[in-house]
Amino acid sequence: MRLKHCHNFQDFRTLAQKRLPSPIFNYIDGAADDEITYRRNTKSFDACDLVPNVLAGVEDVDMSVTVMGQKLDMPIYCSPTALQRLFHHDGEYAVAAAAEKYGTMYGVSSLGTVSLQEIRKKYSNPQAYQFYFHKDRGLNRAMMESAKDAGIDVMMLTVDCITGGNRERDLRTGFSIPFRLTLAGMLQFAIKPMWGINYITHKKFSLPQLDEHVDMSDGAISIGRYFTEMLDPSMTWKDVEEMVKFWDGQYCLKGIMSVEDAKKAVDIGCTGIILSNHGGRQLDGSRSPFDQLAEIVDAVGDKIDVIMDSGIQRGTHVLKALSLGAKAVGGGRFYLFPLAAAGQDGVERALELMRAEIERGMRLMGCKSVRDLSSKNLRFR
Ligand SMILES: Cc1cc2nc3c(=O)[nH]c(=O)nc-3n(C[C@H](O)[C@H](O)[C@H](O)COP(=O)(O)O)c2cc1C
Repeated sequence: MRLKHCHNFQDFRTLAQKRLPSPIFNYIDGAADDEITYRRNTKSFDACDLVPNVLAGVEDVDMSVTVMGQKLDMPIYCSPTALQRLFHHDGEYAVAAAAEKYGTMYGVSSLGTVSLQEIRKKYSNPQAYQFYFHKDRGLNRAMMESAKDAGIDVMMLTVDCITGGNRERDLRTGFSIPFRLTLAGMLQFAIKPMWGINYITHKKFSLPQLDEHVDMSDGAISIGRYFTEMLDPSMTWKDVEEMVKFWDGQYCLKGIMSVEDAKKAVDIGCTGIILSNHGGRQLDGSRSPFDQLAEIVDAVGDKIDVIMDSGIQRGTHVLKALSLGAKAVGGGRFYLFPLAAAGQDGVERALELMRAEIERGMRLMGCKSVRDLSSKNLRFR
C-alpha cells in the first residue's frame, strides 16, 4: 500500500500501522480505559443526517471561516499533538508546512518536538500554542511571555489533563518518554528497522518547549513525572482568569464540555472554547463533543467562538458540526496517521482530501458559504 492508495482516514491508519513500530502506533491510535468515548466520538455523527437543498447555484464555494480572529481557508485545523517527530522525522515541520499550504491553523503542543519560535519564523499561517498550567506561576508567565514575543496567534490552555488518562495500550507496550519498553515492545521496534534508521539519522529528539525551563535531558525527568510533579492539579478559574488577562489576546480553553464551564469561560474573558475530550484519551465514558455541541452553542454561541474536536474523520462530519453552530473544528488523528504514513506529503494529502470532501459536501448541500449551513439542514434520527 502506498500514499496514492489512501483515500480516507482508515486507509491512512492502515498505512501508518505498517510504517510505525506498534508501541508508537498504539500511542496514537489508543485512548483511555475501554475506549468507549473514543469510539462514540466518531459514531455520534451518525445520529443525524444532512438534509440538502438543491438548485442553489453552487459553482463557487467559499469554505473559509474566521475563528478567534484568524482567517482560515478551510474550517478544519490541526489540533496540537505531542511528540510528532516520533511519528515521522519531519514532525511539526511537516504539519506546519502542510497547514500553511492549505491556509489553516495548527497547534504546537507543550510536548512538541520542535520549538514554537523556530516554527513561527518559518511559517506564516495562524499558530496556536497549547499550554499546560504549571505549579510555578513564574514559569507560566515566562513561557507566555516568550510565546508572545514569538508572535503566537492563539493561546490554547488544555483543561482536560488535570491528571493523565489511563491508556492501557501504552501500559502493555511500555510506551513512555523516555522509552521504558517491555520486551515485546522492543521486539516491535526491531521488526520496523526503517523507523529506527530515520530516528537515529535525523535531528536528536527533544522537547524544546520544556527543555528551556525543565531539565528533560537524558531522562532527568520523564513526561509522567512532568505531569505529576510540575503541573498544578489545584488550578482554578481564578488562576486561568489571571492568565487570560496576562496574555491579553486570543485565548481559548481546550476541553470544555459543560454549559456551566462554557459560561465561566465567557465570564473570564476567553475568546474561544474547544469542546473536546482529547480524542477519548482522558475520561472514558465522557460525552462526545458532537453530542454536546448544540447545548453549548445555544448557551454561549453568541458570546464566544465555539469550536469542537474529537472523532472527525470526514468532510461531512465537519459540515454537521458547522451546521450545529461550531465556528471551526480541530482534528488530531486525521493528520497524525497521514504524517506517520508519509510525512508532509501525507498531511497534504489528508488536507486535500478533507478540503475536497467539504467542498463536494457543500455543493451537494446547496451551500455557497459555511454561513448557509444551519441546524435547518440537519435532522436527528
Ligand atoms: C497522539 C496524540 C497526542 C496528543 N497530544 C496532545 C497534547 O500534547 N496536548 C493537547 O492538548 N492535546 C493533545 N492531543 C489531543 C488533540 O489535540 C485532539 O484533542 C484530539 O486528537 C482530537 O481527537 P481526534 O484525534 O479524534 O481528532 C493528542 C492527541 C493524540 C492522538
